Amino acid sequence: MRFSKVAAGLAAFAFLFGLGLPAHAVPDTSVTNKQNFSTDVVYQIVTDRLVDGNPANNPGGAAFSADCSQKKLYCGGDWKGITNKINDGYLTGMGITAIWISQPVENITAIINYSGTNSTAYHGYWARDFKKPNLAYGSFTDFTNLIAAAHAKNIKVIIDFAPNHTSPASQADAGFAENGRLYDNGTLLSGYTSDPNGYFHHNGGTDFSTLESGIYRNLFDLADLNHNHATIDTYFKNAIKAWLDLGIDGIRWDAVKHMPFGWQKSMMAYINGYKPVFSFGEWFLGTDEVDPNNHAFANKSGMSLLDFQFGQKVRQVFKAGTHDMTSLHQMITDTASQYAQVNDQVTFIDNHDMDRFHVVGANQRKLEQALAFTLTARGVPAIYYGTEQYMTGVGDPNNRAKMTSFSTTTTAYKLISKLAPLRKSNPALAYGTTQQRWLSSNVYIYERQFGPNIVVVAINRDLVNSTPISGFFTALPAGSYTDVLAGLGLNGNNITVNAGGGVSNFTLAAGAIAVWQRTAATSTPTIGHVGPMMARAGNTITIDGRGFGATKGTVFFGATAVTGANILSWEDSQVKVLVPNIAAGNYNVSVRNAGLVTSGTYNGFQLLSGAQVTVRFVVNNAFTALGENVYLTGDKFELTNWSTSAPIGPLFNQVVHAYPTWYYDVSVPASTTIQFKFIKKNGGAVTWEGGSNHTFTTPASGTATVNVNWQP
Ligand code: NOJ
Ligand code: NOJ
Ligand code: CA
Ligand code: CA
Repeated sequence: MRFSKVAAGLAAFAFLFGLGLPAHAVPDTSVTNKQNFSTDVVYQIVTDRLVDGNPANNPGGAAFSADCSQKKLYCGGDWKGITNKINDGYLTGMGITAIWISQPVENITAIINYSGTNSTAYHGYWARDFKKPNLAYGSFTDFTNLIAAAHAKNIKVIIDFAPNHTSPASQADAGFAENGRLYDNGTLLSGYTSDPNGYFHHNGGTDFSTLESGIYRNLFDLADLNHNHATIDTYFKNAIKAWLDLGIDGIRWDAVKHMPFGWQKSMMAYINGYKPVFSFGEWFLGTDEVDPNNHAFANKSGMSLLDFQFGQKVRQVFKAGTHDMTSLHQMITDTASQYAQVNDQVTFIDNHDMDRFHVVGANQRKLEQALAFTLTARGVPAIYYGTEQYMTGVGDPNNRAKMTSFSTTTTAYKLISKLAPLRKSNPALAYGTTQQRWLSSNVYIYERQFGPNIVVVAINRDLVNSTPISGFFTALPAGSYTDVLAGLGLNGNNITVNAGGGVSNFTLAAGAIAVWQRTAATSTPTIGHVGPMMARAGNTITIDGRGFGATKGTVFFGATAVTGANILSWEDSQVKVLVPNIAAGNYNVSVRNAGLVTSGTYNGFQLLSGAQVTVRFVVNNAFTALGENVYLTGDKFELTNWSTSAPIGPLFNQVVHAYPTWYYDVSVPASTTIQFKFIKKNGGAVTWEGGSNHTFTTPASGTATVNVNWQP
């Protein structure tokens, strides 16, 4: 234990002083590991708002606010400015190992006046050409310079990507803004009002009442793209390929609740077969909102989600104070079963669409506790820029102010700089289970564990009263443990663990945050992460963990053993393996070391039937009784293998087609003859279509629509 503590300390030292990778770095902590962000801490940057590194690229005239007092105008921040903050050590000094930047693509330059306020595309969400850079952020050279500078400091780069829409448009007014026009590397594809090829949806704005309305109608006034059109599908696959080829490490997908799920799955299958990078979507959930569709998306689409259940709960507990620690623990318990890979969901306490966590006049300890919790809880933590400077701001755009300061001496900055390196050095934070060890309304002591690696965190939310702690047991071996946060003024304490795991009684001070930890090597194979979790035969999968040993062993997909040349690399903490050519389906992955010891299973890997295309399935004349809905099932894994208990659907019947016609966009294997039928379900009661199965041969690429009549 002593030795590992020293090693962890050295790793932390190396990160604190911006020395990059410690010499003995394990592969799961490396910047080259683009599938696994579990050991990372993400810093979310609104590119226009961090640093103006190059005043020459600032938009002129009415689009620009030099002092950033007009927060819907450009304020000058750019990729050069971010590069400067990487090079001067501000980010590495905080332990940041990934940045998430605004959508980098070319945006409209029009200024839109909304109720008297001039608005620009400073935020990056009003795209015009997804294959070009936003010149206010910089050139392609500035972008690749940013990537190179980041990678040199072991920092990954995540881009925001928003293929749901182009820019604001009005069906009634071709002169409004830039009419949502979409360009393909400079060539006009279409505007919104005159759209002969149907590249856009023209179904009005969504009222958010149903999933279907949210997907096929406009999000606010944003010109909504039709991903069922082969040109749009191919355009986005080529566009994301170009950004992947520039070296990005991750993608944050905007508005995933508003794009066809089948199209997004085919997109992820494409990326995972080309250059897999960690991907997470934005599916906004309000306070107390729990949505099974959100869980299903995270578990099946091939990408993770921003964990709004986590973020909203943390805000209730530490910001608003409306909920207590038992509610916080309940969220941890609930999400552990709702999300198949809960460690892959991206956690946060605020972002550019929420009020900033810190409020003028609030006790800063609230923010510090929320940060400490997020940095030590399951999930990939993302910290919104300026949080470490206690920036405030209620509502958009006040929550997106120009970065106020780059102080490296704030308590929040120092707190992050202590805990972020711990995510690299102690795999309990990246991969571990969470166990409640002591819980009351105000005190939460929880233990993260991955094999012999353990982190225990104690937080007292009561900023006035201390709490005596007795009856606290831990898996930490007997010994004394110093508080990782000692010296930061966060009121933590050291503990003594006795034989049997009982902790000597102590008093947890008012407002305390304390962290105790140990690391140890293991020779028992233990999987921490598998990525990507959706791929096809022949794709490469990266398995991170501990105790795999130095000698090549076996990887199992269910009962299928993969050995020899199909294992591309084998290290004690990482294995790269080719997905075997076996039946498509859900598989549990496990690793057997050369000594024939087998790990536990990492569950839920989706082995696809092959390369994917999106097909729209349409069925006419499907009349249903009240409470009855139409679903799709068929003979491929992607069509649920004739499942009637969990078929695809319920299908939609209101926007693109209307009842009694039903439709759904589905990711299916390319160049494949599929068989399918529609079924009607009312609760558990199933009514099959009559006749023989429908058959359809899917295209090799692009998209297709298959339109049939319900067979009575
Ligand atoms: C969600 C983004 O986070 C938000 O800021 C943006 O305005 C909308 N999606 C539309 O792109
Ligand atoms: C049962 C259905 O009745 C039939 O139509 C379908 O072809 C088969 N399931 C597929 O196994
Ligand atoms: Ca600039
Ligand atoms: Ca849409």
